[in-house]
Amino acid sequence: MKAFVIDKYAKNRALRLADLPEPELHDDEVLVEVHAAGVNLLDAKIRDGEFKLILPYRLPLTLGHDVAGVVVKVGPHVRQFTPGDEVYARVDDFRIGTFAELVPVKEASLALKPRNLTMVEAASIPLVGLTAWQALVERGQLQRGQKVFIQAGSGGVGTFAIQLAKHLGATVATTASAGSAALVKGLGADVVVDYKTQDFEEALRNYDVVLNSQDSKTLEKSLRVLKGGGKLLSISGPPDPEFAKGIAAPAFVKFVIRLLSAGIRRRARARRVDYSFVFMKADGRQLQEITRLIEAKAIRPVIDKVFAFEATNDALNYVQAGRAKGKVVIEVK
Ligand SMILES: NC(=O)c1ccc[n+]([C@@H]2O[C@H](COP(=O)([O-])OP(=O)(O)OC[C@H]3O[C@@H](n4cnc5c(N)ncnc54)[C@H](OP(=O)(O)O)[C@@H]3O)[C@@H](O)[C@H]2O)c1
Repeated sequence: MKAFVIDKYAKNRALRLADLPEPELHDDEVLVEVHAAGVNLLDAKIRDGEFKLILPYRLPLTLGHDVAGVVVKVGPHVRQFTPGDEVYARVDDFRIGTFAELVPVKEASLALKPRNLTMVEAASIPLVGLTAWQALVERGQLQRGQKVFIQAGSGGVGTFAIQLAKHLGATVATTASAGSAALVKGLGADVVVDYKTQDFEEALRNYDVVLNSQDSKTLEKSLRVLKGGGKLLSISGPPDPEFAKGIAAPAFVKFVIRLLSAGIRRRARARRVDYSFVFMKADGRQLQEITRLIEAKAIRPVIDKVFAFEATNDALNYVQAGRAKGKVVIEVK
């Protein structure tokens, strides 16, 4: 099968189009024929070697985390899926590889594709949808009537998170440039701050939850938007000791992670704010909940650009440039 692989970590180094044998299927896995693969910043960051400490992969490595496609084979322990099913998933860490014609996916990480979405639309959802779900529902426990500030509302995570927060009954503020104001309002944002001309710190007060996805300066400012007892959830770091425990990091990595987040954790405590780093995980059960919300039309995909499989490197570079409005998807079949 054809696949795009990393041979060596290096900034902006193109992936190699390789001809690989059909992947080996574990007993609890389903083999999916890839029709479309969503592209995430995580892919570009892994290619550049930025995740070597947290996700120590062996090279060569087929890249890609999001898939929509058709089940072609199931392992002997698989109960819920049969060949022919249309499915989608964020595949598990250490089992990635959706920039390929076939990918094995753990049954527990897979869900039936929303019936009202095309393959390309479905492939745009899993990683960002699960990120928003794990941040706002699981960790943030966002409630009806609460106020949430979702940064970068026009991005992959932002476009999904705004819709999810509105579905949960929250008031949503977001940052976007002027050209994206109509897009984020259309998704339900109540307050839009133009991050190029306004300071969100001046405009927003007494928020219950902040979903931080930007740099450390923005993280610091976010503390002052929250009320006492509020939650600062960051998906762009720094990682915290809970996360280090969760990935069973070696002692040295645990120590580095504790140091990296010491400052923000101390300042959050001083303001009675709860800081936590969220690193999303594959989860088929949560993806099923997301399927229900999409089929009920509570959430819709937002797609910026679709690339042909042969143009996978261009798709990665486009995402890495950081200007996408919604998601970027590679059409494989
Ligand atoms: N921890 C996790 O599990 C996890 C999961 C998913 C993503 N992430 C991380 O979260 C971050 C966001 O991911 P993403 O996929 O949503 O990114 P993305 O889709 O690439 O974000 C691009 C969007 O961000 C907007 N933007 C850029 N700078 C901004 C700023 N300073 N303020 C407000 N908006 C800004 C851009 O709008 P303009 O072009 O108008 O500027 C563009 O629409 C990344 O760092 C990613 O690695 C982490």
